[in-house]
Amino acid sequence: MIELSRKLDGSNDTETFARDVAEGLSQHQKTLPSRYFYDAAGSRLFQEIMALPEYYLTRCEFKVLTENRQEIARHFAKDSFFHLIDLGAGDALKTKILLRELDRQQSSFDYVPVDISGDAMRQLSSSLQQEMPAVRVQAVVGEYFPALEWLHENKPERKVVLFLGSNIGNFKPDEGRNFLKTICSYLNPGDKLLLGVDLRKDPDTILSAYNDTSGVTAEFNLNLLRRINAELGGEFDIAQFQHYPIYNPQEGVMRSFLVSRKEQEVYIRDTGRTFHFDAWEAIHTENSHKYSMQQVEELGKACGFRVETLFQDVACRFADVLFTVT
Ligand code: AVJ
Repeated sequence: MIELSRKLDGSNDTETFARDVAEGLSQHQKTLPSRYFYDAAGSRLFQEIMALPEYYLTRCEFKVLTENRQEIARHFAKDSFFHLIDLGAGDALKTKILLRELDRQQSSFDYVPVDISGDAMRQLSSSLQQEMPAVRVQAVVGEYFPALEWLHENKPERKVVLFLGSNIGNFKPDEGRNFLKTICSYLNPGDKLLLGVDLRKDPDTILSAYNDTSGVTAEFNLNLLRRINAELGGEFDIAQFQHYPIYNPQEGVMRSFLVSRKEQEVYIRDTGRTFHFDAWEAIHTENSHKYSMQQVEELGKACGFRVETLFQDVACRFADVLFTVT
């Protein structure tokens, strides 16, 4: 397993977290970055979300990958060695569908899962060792770009990048474009990217996926405040905030908020500051973009890719788009 050092400026994770929280809560329209959802409790809650009846995304993608696994594996393999780079691999439940198929087809490849969670990468390495001993695994613990840069400099062979689960949806449009452009800059012509995107559909279906009746998504959102309390000495009274998601069908953006139920002051020790909340003032915590197929194609094109094949479920809820670097 390779661990890439994360901070070049010598600051630690807690300091960065405190700085990001203070910055977000100082804005006129308060925000908190969605990447901080995933502490141990948040990761567990996200696992629960993926099993919710309302959260169609995971089941759809699972189905798309299962139904098309042979064709996808053939597109990847192309009779030559390649690195399969899985950005944000986590427990790799969906990737394992493809790994099993590649293993069965006796493809020549190294699996390179990348994740900021060292625990997740250790668990994944050992579970793969058990389940698919013939698959060579080289896990990387670190952020996406340092990992891609490291691969670019040390592994010249063909590359296939996976960015599954509609994780691209968390980026603002320009951030998403820059992200794909940066990925492309670490690849060579003919290299591939399999991108999971959630498609535009009935707004009620989308809203329900982020507003489940059992309240798991609400807990997931509120956990961000719990994490600030636990790690930064925050004094949020969780009961005084509520989860509020809203979908804008014109922009195709699902936005999640935490709304203050009353006027209140909240001290956060590690920021050295107290933050004021008006009654019903909102903190924006997440964007989840939904795309039309035309937007996905244009996005790829603007970043140096062309669509090689499109894999979709019959109801067109979710797409896994196979791009090739042009
Ligand atoms: C992990 C970013 C794909 O946006 O659908 C699920 C996170 N947030 N429910 C998504 C999430 C609320 C999820 N992604």
